[in-house]
Amino acid sequence: MRKQTISFEFQVYESMAELGQEDQRLMQRAIKAREAAYAPYSSFLVGAAILLENGEVVIGNNQENASYPSGLCAERVALFYAGANYPGMVIKAIAITAMSENHLVDTPAAPCGNCRQAISEYEFRQKEPIPILMMGEKGEVIKCSSLADMLPLGFNNTYLKG
Ligand code: THU
Repeated sequence: MRKQTISFEFQVYESMAELGQEDQRLMQRAIKAREAAYAPYSSFLVGAAILLENGEVVIGNNQENASYPSGLCAERVALFYAGANYPGMVIKAIAITAMSENHLVDTPAAPCGNCRQAISEYEFRQKEPIPILMMGEKGEVIKCSSLADMLPLGFNNTYLKG
């Protein structure tokens, strides 16, 4: 038996204002997307913005459903839109922000496990790290330089091949 440790470094910005211009602009798009979320059941509104290598930004927000599991997270709405409309195009960054209609979300909104797995598929495929920016409604912003850092010991398609 041997023990191993996985650790990773990430950046914490005091607020959105401290971000670089490009990241700030992307987060702005995520905020805009968040405002259009369809979240009548949770009242938790999430927005995601994806920067593509051609400079275009695609957005997504959570789309809930009366049959709860039929809804989809903001990140995957954006990601699958990108995959469907810009097949094979490299993703340069993803910004995520969340707010609640019931309380102030002042801690960075982390993508759920399913979204991490979905993003990891794209990162693995493009062989280029996807930086993830996370924010609540206000307050600190966390930036991870790669999705893989957020999903250690992850599953990918190498397990499916002989
Ligand atoms: N949600 C997202 O959109 N992204 C996440 O990563 C976490 C959760 C949504 C799903 C649901 O509509 C609401 O937030 C409450 O879970």
